Amino acid sequence: MRAYYFDNVPGDQRLAHEPVPSRPVAPDTLAQMGVLTWQIPVAGYEEKLDGIARERGYKNSDTIDVSREGMGEVYEAKIKGFFQEHMHEDEEIRYILSGSGFFDVRETPSDAWIRVAAEPGDFLILPAGIYHRFTLDERDNIKALRLFQDEPKWIPHARSAATDVNNHRVGYLRAIGVGA
Ligand SMILES: [Fe+2]
Repeated sequence: MRAYYFDNVPGDQRLAHEPVPSRPVAPDTLAQMGVLTWQIPVAGYEEKLDGIARERGYKNSDTIDVSREGMGEVYEAKIKGFFQEHMHEDEEIRYILSGSGFFDVRETPSDAWIRVAAEPGDFLILPAGIYHRFTLDERDNIKALRLFQDEPKWIPHARSAATDVNNHRVGYLRAIGVGA
């Protein structure tokens, strides 16, 4: 999965926003931020994914189709919502079945955005407490599997002074060795 520093140039969120020259980010750097990525070919993905799910205790999954056709009237509002910087108190786990999009994750303490370009076969885990956002790219569609441990709690907490001291945020910073 390709990742690079976001260029911070205002404009359409669906464009690549990759600086010239690019500033690539290696998988190891993502892993140090708690962002784990794998490649699992879509053909016959079920078996391999089941293995990871068993290992990490993911018991349930569903499929999300983010496209105008898939979401209908709520599409525009949803797209805006996904792109608002937020955190969750659970991991965000996605396996991309088709289409593509960008997961932006905040590096700490630099507060820089790192853009992760997700494509079919990409499997990605964002840790609880990481600030992030999501956008479709210009292809305007993505179909992804969402995995979860128990009941799905897709509550996005918009970044604020309150989330800065949220237990899961503080725990995350501790886990990556930033902050007290
Ligand atoms: Fe999220």
